[in-house]
Amino acid sequence: MSAQFPVARPRRLRRTPALRRLVAEHRLSPADLVLPMFVKEGIAEPQPVPSMPGVVQHTRDSLRKAAHEAAEAGVGGLMLFGVPAVKDGTGSAADDPAGIVQLALRDLTSDLGDAVVIMTDLCLDEYTDHGHCGLLTPAGEIDNDATLERYASIAVAQADAGAAVVAPSGMMDGQVGAIRSALDAAGYRDVAILAYSAKYASAFYGPFRDAAECAPRFGDRSSHQQDPPNAEEALREVLLDLDEGADMVMVKPAGPYLDIVRRVRDEVRVPVAAYQVSGEYAMIEAAAEKGWLDRERTIDESLTSIRRAGADIVLTYWATEAARRLRRR
Ligand code: PBG
Repeated sequence: MSAQFPVARPRRLRRTPALRRLVAEHRLSPADLVLPMFVKEGIAEPQPVPSMPGVVQHTRDSLRKAAHEAAEAGVGGLMLFGVPAVKDGTGSAADDPAGIVQLALRDLTSDLGDAVVIMTDLCLDEYTDHGHCGLLTPAGEIDNDATLERYASIAVAQADAGAAVVAPSGMMDGQVGAIRSALDAAGYRDVAILAYSAKYASAFYGPFRDAAECAPRFGDRSSHQQDPPNAEEALREVLLDLDEGADMVMVKPAGPYLDIVRRVRDEVRVPVAAYQVSGEYAMIEAAAEKGWLDRERTIDESLTSIRRAGADIVLTYWATEAARRLRRR
């Protein structure tokens, strides 16, 4: 049946790659991407992370090289995680000026200056022998307020070593306020806070715990990280963090929580980051290795979707690769 009147034909604008590019509603650029990186103390060669093919625990030297490559590709930021050689009950390596993250921060800031935004994850789980994000009471529970003092001290150590942004990921109540006060008191009024505000107790962090060697020895993180069914609670966490002085907020994981990314984006007036976590990475790499998915297309689609959901900044282990691809386009 032929139409008697002009019918809407959305397909007209999909006809050629040039048309599709012209009308694309969302675009990623390398500057929106942040590369999470692991640096381990006391290793002579980079160590592959088996559950994250393509990701390594870096030596100080290999970190410098990879950071340089990321900056060269136009990646907007780096998020540094340290894996110390020795762990203890209070995570003392976390704020040791000679601790691995502090050393690596000095390397990167002297190599790269302000060419790329150098950020550090701020938590205790990579540094404690029990693998929890905070100090424990004798009964084995996480002591929220005692942990805040540790976070405050770590923030200052990271700022001393050159971090432009600190990113508290432990989900302790009051952590952003405690860190902001400590940074201000130490004269670091310009060091920004990217708060992991809506961080869920997610099974998708599994592979990361190999990379950062931080699986809890007992129990889990459900007493502080958010429960997956809750969305309103994420907004509550975000608003509290902004009240306490967060400059940017994050939703984590990204892919399974795109609705949260959108709701946070609509609610606040600060940059919103989303973290495509280790499990999201591992799933696509594993399926691609089996030939079940087209690797590059799936990666790019997953990143575009996070952007479309409203993230201004996307943390992804594919940052350098994706940035290079975006530049060729
Ligand atoms: C905690 C932290 C975790 C991740 C980032 N920061 C692990 C956790 O909360 O258990 C997970 C990142 C990922 O899975 O890629 N320091």
